Amino acid sequence: MENKIKNSKILVTGGAGFIGSHIVDELIKEEPQEIIVFDNFLRGKKENLKNALTSGRVKIFEGDIKNPSQLKEAMQGVDYVFHEAALWLLECEEKPRDAIETNIIGTFNVCEAAVNAKVKKIIAASSSSVYGDGIYFPTDENHPFNNNLFYGATKVADEQILRAFWKKYGLDFVAFRYLNVYGPRMDFRSVYIMVIMNFLNKIDKGEAPVIFGDGSATLDLVYVTDVAKANILALKSDVTNEVFNVSGGRETSLKELLNIILKLTGSNLQPVYQPRDKKLVTRRFGYSEKAQKMLGFEPEISLEEGLKKVINWRKEELNKN
Ligand SMILES: NC(=O)c1ccc[n+]([C@@H]2O[C@H](COP(=O)([O-])OP(=O)(O)OC[C@H]3O[C@@H](n4cnc5c(N)ncnc54)[C@H](O)[C@@H]3O)[C@@H](O)[C@H]2O)c1
Repeated sequence: MENKIKNSKILVTGGAGFIGSHIVDELIKEEPQEIIVFDNFLRGKKENLKNALTSGRVKIFEGDIKNPSQLKEAMQGVDYVFHEAALWLLECEEKPRDAIETNIIGTFNVCEAAVNAKVKKIIAASSSSVYGDGIYFPTDENHPFNNNLFYGATKVADEQILRAFWKKYGLDFVAFRYLNVYGPRMDFRSVYIMVIMNFLNKIDKGEAPVIFGDGSATLDLVYVTDVAKANILALKSDVTNEVFNVSGGRETSLKELLNIILKLTGSNLQPVYQPRDKKLVTRRFGYSEKAQKMLGFEPEISLEEGLKKVINWRKEELNKN
């Protein structure tokens, strides 16, 4: 099969963020001519690109997907685009207008600039949030859009925008409905942090980890390098106009997750229980058979293995400061 990545020019929106920077790392292994990281550094960090920058193949373009002229400039001569830039779920709930402007209009701008630059394919981040509260499990791609949050609404719109660009201009695309992505470079310092980091932050302080709800709510945790690999597979394949779940293949309750983390950290702290935010879904378990069949995607990193990596990475980060 022709290696589409070798010697091509690739732009990654949100490339300094958590998932985007891991996509950049995977891409470098395949010797592209150049990777342009397009990021406004709202949450992204240069530190995430530390290794990638030593390759000499990565260029940073500090820009905003809300700004079409910056996208036009950055997109010149680009062959392929990975689109990861977006505002997070809770941020979208707090600032719905920003959510629409960044996630929806921003995605439109990225697609428009891609068409004008004759980009051959775009691989975009959607989310399992489009399903809202699951009606059946494991949830496959035919599940209805049962979402009722602004974040999910923007991701539904993004998928539709991608399809419309494909239909009108022939812009090939794949969109990924990631489940709960975790791994090194996951934020653990700001207000918008994931449950794994909330547990670890508490354990570090010797305080009781907080479980919101009764602990039976579940996550489908998928390790970030597996997610990055799914993105590369989508670029290499000839598949277009498709959406795929990217799941870790295992449903884990909050209680179970905390128990694994307590074991790995050698802690015997007991959790405290607090009321759960009612707008958050109580169950996530996705089905990735479609990605497995059409793209050859298989998650490789087990939950225990992945959590160990996160714990070690976080420790190293804390030792730096
Ligand atoms: N992390 C998850 O579990 C998860 C799950 C489902 C979907 N997603 C989606 O995956 C994508 C990547 O998520 P992530 O977890 O890496 O988040 P992240 O916040 O670490 O990365 C997003 C990046 O986009 C940048 N960005 C934000 N607004 C921008 C703008 N207007 N212009 C340019 N850059 C901008 C941020 O600085 C950041 O570097 C997002 O689209 C997100 O919605 C993530």
